[in-house]
Amino acid sequence: MTPTDREAALLETVRAQPVPEHIAIIMDGNGRWATGRGLPRIAGHREGVKAARTIVRAADALGLRFLTLYAFSTENWSRPLDEVSMLMNLLERSVHAELPEFMARNARLRVLGQTHRVPAGVRRGIDHVVHETRNNTGLTVLMAFNYGGRDELLDAFRALARQVQAGELKPEDISEKDVSGALYTADVPDPDLLIRTSGEMRISNFLLWQIAYTELLVTPVLWPDFGASDLYQAVAEFQKRTRRFGKV
Ligand code: FPP
Repeated sequence: MTPTDREAALLETVRAQPVPEHIAIIMDGNGRWATGRGLPRIAGHREGVKAARTIVRAADALGLRFLTLYAFSTENWSRPLDEVSMLMNLLERSVHAELPEFMARNARLRVLGQTHRVPAGVRRGIDHVVHETRNNTGLTVLMAFNYGGRDELLDAFRALARQVQAGELKPEDISEKDVSGALYTADVPDPDLLIRTSGEMRISNFLLWQIAYTELLVTPVLWPDFGASDLYQAVAEFQKRTRRFGKV
């Protein structure tokens, strides 16, 4: 069997059982992938973009409804300035280049995060793709960009506090549904599976509210090496788990 045959066989096996609706990924290890090869870190991010493209295609082949990718966190601003600006431009160019493929796949792009705080040119480029794909009904790719889980919760609490202040909501009536609805992910089901590449056992301020009952999977594979088969294997692992949601 060639690797392509193996990948197709794996896809067929996992598709024979219910697949998750929503997978979220912390794409980690671009820097280590590059330094391990004596390359500048940005070379790792470029490979990371290729991996992201592969995974979007694989998610579509799986029939996933939502794929969330952690592209840039609020903490990432503290990296060296040249890495931050190259990363911003790379993300904007990469998203722009994907527009034809998103249209062909009927896929939609949404952004989670405080995009009003990113450079105007980058924001415009990404907003354009969000706008052009807004009516597509296939896979939704949620790009967490200038995203922080605690910031998201603070924004939600502020919105709810404003509703209380306006007399539209009583504090004792605030429900989980109200909080979920005030998050950037309003109307998106919580992730069924969260994958983190490159072996770190951390959540890193990602989707703090939404992952309450999410299955976690950490793989040692560095993000640029993470391929379609790795995603299908993660789904196969997910299918073996019994989700109890706190029950017995
Ligand atoms: C982790 O590597 C990755 C990032 C900081 C985010 C950037 C992600 C990409 C460029 C992938 C493409 C994504 C999209 C949505 C097109 P790291 O620098 O933290 O690696 P290290 O932990 O080895 O230093």
